[in-house]
Amino acid sequence: MKVLEVIQRSSEFLAKKGVESPRLQIELLLAHLLGLPRMQLYLNFERVLSPAELDHLRGLVKRRGQREPLQHIVGTVSFCGLELTVNRHALIPRPETELLAERAWQFLSALNFQPPTALDFGTGSGCLAIALAVKCPTAQLFAVDISNEALALARQNAVRQNVADRIRFFAGDGVAALPSGSRFNLIVANPPYIPSATIGTLAPEVREHDPRLALDGGADGLDFYRRLAMAASTFLQSDGRIMLELGDGQAGEVSAIFQQQKWVVEAVQEDYNRQPRILVARRAG
Ligand SMILES: C[S@@+](CC[C@H](N)C(=O)[O-])C[C@H]1O[C@@H](n2cnc3c(N)ncnc32)[C@H](O)[C@@H]1O
Repeated sequence: MKVLEVIQRSSEFLAKKGVESPRLQIELLLAHLLGLPRMQLYLNFERVLSPAELDHLRGLVKRRGQREPLQHIVGTVSFCGLELTVNRHALIPRPETELLAERAWQFLSALNFQPPTALDFGTGSGCLAIALAVKCPTAQLFAVDISNEALALARQNAVRQNVADRIRFFAGDGVAALPSGSRFNLIVANPPYIPSATIGTLAPEVREHDPRLALDGGADGLDFYRRLAMAASTFLQSDGRIMLELGDGQAGEVSAIFQQQKWVVEAVQEDYNRQPRILVARRAG
């Protein structure tokens, strides 16, 4: 079978299985299998796949048809231009979170304070801490997660990106995991923010493959914002900032939670779909 025929047949199969953007998905799987950039497939439509390649591809397409995320099948994701390993122990980093990373490194890079320090709360794959360490070559990072398996992945990614010497990893429940007296210029978090009862309604790729610990934000999805609004200011330098990713429709409630705890909400930034997605706050006074 030729590349073009495989693309056409497999995208029909994936569409029937309810997979979004089926043609893109098969092109990415095929590019992964053949070790080519996706665009090169267009120059290889007439290439005939060997029986071994077809066999391998069938396995990959079957897994995607069973709604396993593409990133788990290929084993990596690109985040802020960095290739990170992903697995079932940590959330697959999302494009929206790149906006948080970008805003955070712009803030850290503009500081006179040396070395700038930042905490990544709920580090998962390590994507935020690692992107900050790469983009701010003098920054010192702390990264916390309650999942030891996620931390193992984050460490592996930090080594792969040559920044493991500037990130300290802590296992535990939120800020309680940090050494007492820790103070940061910046705290970033993409906390679990899905209301518990909504998780079952999410796409199978998310509800069955992202860890529940990474999704579940309590009854109304806002538990971690409440915890951070109460506890985070103790860990911030007086002119420090907290930058948080928000779930859909949460900007108003999260702003109110922070204002009640005497924070000043400086900005709410929209994402590519014009959804309020990033909240930036500082301590009042
Ligand atoms: C939404 S994921 C974000 C992962 C990563 N920062 C990202 O943006 O892709 C939230 C992370 O918070 C972690 N987490 C959940 N409860 C926690 C807690 N009580 N203390 C620390 N981390 C927690 C989860 O294990 C998960 O890795």
